Amino acid sequence: MADLSVEFSGIRLKNPLMVGAGPNTMNFQTSLDCMKAGFGAIVIRSLHTTHLDDHKESSRGFWRIYSANKNYKKSLYSFQSTGAPAQRVHKNVPPGFGGAAVMPTLEEYTEEVYKITRAAKDYDCRVIASTGWCGARLSDEEVWAAEAKAMTEAGVDAIELHTGPSPATEPGRFITVDPHKYLEMPIKVSKQASNLPIFPKIPADCCDTIGMSAFAQKAGADGVVPVTRWISIPVDIENEKEPVWRGPGIGGPWSAPIMTGFVFRMRHADQPINYVGGGPVGGFPDSPPVTVPIIASGGVRSGADVIGYIMAGADAAQTCVQVILEGVGAGGRILKEMSDWMDRKGYQRVSDFQGTLKLVGNKDVLSIPQWQPVIDDSLCNGCNICVKSCYNHAMSLVDNKARVDDSYCEGCRTCYYVCPTNAISLKG
Ligand SMILES: Cc1cc2nc3c(=O)[nH]c(=O)nc-3n(C[C@H](O)[C@H](O)[C@H](O)COP(=O)(O)O)c2cc1C
Repeated sequence: MADLSVEFSGIRLKNPLMVGAGPNTMNFQTSLDCMKAGFGAIVIRSLHTTHLDDHKESSRGFWRIYSANKNYKKSLYSFQSTGAPAQRVHKNVPPGFGGAAVMPTLEEYTEEVYKITRAAKDYDCRVIASTGWCGARLSDEEVWAAEAKAMTEAGVDAIELHTGPSPATEPGRFITVDPHKYLEMPIKVSKQASNLPIFPKIPADCCDTIGMSAFAQKAGADGVVPVTRWISIPVDIENEKEPVWRGPGIGGPWSAPIMTGFVFRMRHADQPINYVGGGPVGGFPDSPPVTVPIIASGGVRSGADVIGYIMAGADAAQTCVQVILEGVGAGGRILKEMSDWMDRKGYQRVSDFQGTLKLVGNKDVLSIPQWQPVIDDSLCNGCNICVKSCYNHAMSLVDNKARVDDSYCEGCRTCYYVCPTNAISLKG
């Protein structure tokens, strides 16, 4: 049976799947549920102490599913919220979404985190705290240091810096505008206050994620977590405005291929990844590749997503929205999918396939085997949809049945997907 354990920054995880910071880890009980579900690590809901004596009513949060289809399982979906300040890891915060709650002090929060770290020992689950800013209110040195110290005393295994604000807000771009103040300072101050691994979360929205990850590495980060949520504006066209205020942060499966690309480009920042006209284009010779651990975050909903991230060069991957929607059982399912794939491929350890992804060069493209459409005449009703959708003009109708001209077909599979009668199958 495949060994899913991974080790980085001096931490051993029984598997590389983490629950990302968010509602799934908002208090002791929900965190315990995640540990029981078998995740290798959990990142606790972010602590947002702007001032150390902060203890006030939080604002109301907004939460909604955003999907093209009522059944999210069948379409790309996401989960939006503006609710980060409303919910904190604290015993007084009731489970569930929305609603205002009293924001706990750092001491109260630390007490709850301590309970979580004690329980984690029974489940061989690592616990990562998430400290830092929220929204437009930025933490200062004193706050970063106090939170790092408190979380270390609470027994966590590592600290994720919430340098990418959640809900996603404009301050994300401050990181690029002034990385010394908004990235280097939090890293250095947290490292001075704690001997634990420090992982800044690097936003993608409003931020040069790849460049800032290299910057964080240079500033002493022990690893990076790209990314947090993205600002989104889903417009309600009946009311002609955004349905909820403040450009809610959005996560979800749509982001996995984009972020997998980011992870790959971080690991290969000095190399071109595009070949145009047979020659290499791109690559930033002055941008060092990210060599510290990468904990990917964005769109993980299957074992394939985690495997893809790891093949692209990540050390572990987080999932958040999927667990909100599917429940903690998503953990066991994703891990089984990973382990089945490893068994099928003959991989014994995660390191066997970590960072092995290679891009196809232009000269190799033509030798890649292509899909070929095969028409079942008994199912083809001559609707012409495949003909219209084939931008290579490889499809035509002959005697009211679809026909493929192999010399034009490049195996894009569009005809297969658009055929309403399933008359087209694919030969590999
Ligand atoms: C409702 C909600 C609340 C979140 N709260 C936090 C948070 O407190 N701290 C944080 O760093 N990230 C937070 N996130 C971001 C997630 O941890 C994650 O980085 C992001 O959603 C992308 O991953 P996903 O596509 O798997 O959800 C939150 C995400 C959602 C959807």
